[in-house]
Amino acid sequence: MIRLGVNVDHVATVRQARRAREPDPVWAAMEAQLGGADGITVHLREDRRHIQERDVRLLRELVSVRLNLEMSLAEDIVKFACEVRPDEATIVPERRQELTTEGGLDVVRHEDRVQEVVERLRQRGILVSLFIEPDVRQIECARLVGAQAVEFHTGRYAHATNPDEHQQELEALIQAARYAHEAGLHVHMGHGLNYANVCAIAAISQVEELNIGHSIVARAIFVGMRQAVREMKEIICRARRPGA
Ligand code: PXP
Repeated sequence: MIRLGVNVDHVATVRQARRAREPDPVWAAMEAQLGGADGITVHLREDRRHIQERDVRLLRELVSVRLNLEMSLAEDIVKFACEVRPDEATIVPERRQELTTEGGLDVVRHEDRVQEVVERLRQRGILVSLFIEPDVRQIECARLVGAQAVEFHTGRYAHATNPDEHQQELEALIQAARYAHEAGLHVHMGHGLNYANVCAIAAISQVEELNIGHSIVARAIFVGMRQAVREMKEIICRARRPGA
């Protein structure tokens, strides 16, 4: 079983471009659910460039699948997450100037703060995942600080420019998935995945959840959110049942 978490941040990006009321990421989430999404993912960034607190609160009320909040370690964001209580929180690094999350969280470097935040979120009944690079030291540290899941950053795989590099990055993800699974962690993956490159990732048997945003929202512009999600869901489910 593999879940598809649909990230609707970029629907909010379009809305914020005009500081308007539409398109509404909450509506997009409802459409994604109807298309077969197993989860809705949003990133409440410190600069509030796309998703707003209002969106997360409404999603908490309306979403009937899993709600996954991507969040930094900033104190006001942690307090907000503890109050709203998403089903899942994915801790990500955040830099103000970046276009999107550019690398994994350095859990080793921020061990004390990550541990404190993981404990607080878990006390509120939230499943905690750490967005990390496929690196053994980071996986070990994720386990030590009490995270229940890790999400491996698939950006290097997605952006590989030649077949050798592509294969090498895929191998790293396969090894990391095995290692994390054996360490008792749930394995998620995401970033830069699209309708063409998702197959090999969805085929990794330890992967339980994929979080995909940009490619689905981009396709939704032309075919609608329901259809865009349906197509992605079909690809990832087929990758799990080769020959089906
Ligand atoms: N997972 C995490 C932790 C992310 O930060 C992002 C980007 O917001 C995604 C998945 C989705 O990446 P993309 O938009 O490239 O599909």
